[in-house]
Amino acid sequence: MKKITVIGAGNVGATCANVIAHKDLTREVVLVDIKEGVAEGKALDIWQTSSINNFNTRVIGVTNDYLKTKGSSIVVITSGLPRKPGMSRDDLIKTNALIVKEVTEKVVKYSPEAIIIVVSNPLDVMTYAAYRAARKNSSKVFGMAGILDTGRYKAFIADALGVSPKDIHSLLLGGHGDSMVPLPRFTSVSGIPITDLLNKEEIDKIVERTKKGGGELVNLMGTSAWYAPGAAAAQMVEAIVDDQKRIFPVCTLLNGEYGLKDVYMGVPVKLGSNGIEEIIELNLEKEEQKMLEDSANSVKGVMKVLDDMNLFED
Ligand code: NAI
Ligand code: 2OP
Repeated sequence: MKKITVIGAGNVGATCANVIAHKDLTREVVLVDIKEGVAEGKALDIWQTSSINNFNTRVIGVTNDYLKTKGSSIVVITSGLPRKPGMSRDDLIKTNALIVKEVTEKVVKYSPEAIIIVVSNPLDVMTYAAYRAARKNSSKVFGMAGILDTGRYKAFIADALGVSPKDIHSLLLGGHGDSMVPLPRFTSVSGIPITDLLNKEEIDKIVERTKKGGGELVNLMGTSAWYAPGAAAAQMVEAIVDDQKRIFPVCTLLNGEYGLKDVYMGVPVKLGSNGIEEIIELNLEKEEQKMLEDSANSVKGVMKVLDDMNLFED
């Protein structure tokens, strides 16, 4: 049985820890935050649902005490500022890069073998920052965005068709930003192509709403979403703990795949106990490839902002 750590006991981190506990995947979940008492309180609250929700996973909270995270097999990093209305994910880079670097170094010190899943925004670049700080193979350092973005896409399709979201399969590529690339050509309802069920105008509307899905929630709530992001990160944890070999869109380092190099962004991968076990290359049409390259260029622009901060030695 594995120990799982979640860094950041805010909206996303606490939700993620709660979902992991509900799934009863592991003996212990450690929730870490810098705000005195917050992680302890939320962990205790979650643990007190164990008899009600029927799970055994012990959730404990600590304030900045990484010794308690020692020997974790998976660490989810959610620490950092969320978006406020009017902010893009990229506006968060300066503050969150420092936080992600610092926590990753502490994580690796106590859990050198841990698989690291990054959630903090701007997601693709914070995953790159964690990769630089962790100094481990990129198959063990990757980011959560695609499951959330496809979750939104599937929810909108389910509403449009009046069908169960469980029967919708889809893929999405690119960075976690407005340049993300949902792929209607790879979207089906129980095998029926979405293009047979909705017309182009209806699909385009859903794709646009998906791209702006994070901003829609920021505008409604004054901060960014947490239920779907927390559940999405927990689903990645589950795939790894149970060695499920699930195919998910995950933010990973590309090394020539899709003709792209040295950029972290979302593509379909196989997720199992070794982390990213395979990067899956789709045969893209010209227009899809162009959208992916545009998205890569947009992520690279933000990666350069991080590089220019000179936080890393090499
Ligand atoms: P939040 O403000 O509710 O929680 C963040 C927590 O991080 C706070 O409790 C804060 O005290 C803690 N924190 C800050 N510095 C820390 C440090 N050095 N060590 C430990 N904890 C520290 O924010 P929320 O809503 O939970 O979002 C967290 C991050 O996740 C944000 O950057 C947000 O933009 C991002 N996000 C990413 C998504 C994705 O799809 N990848 C989706 C939703 C949010
Ligand atoms: C989201 O997509 C803001 O990345 C965050 O909800």
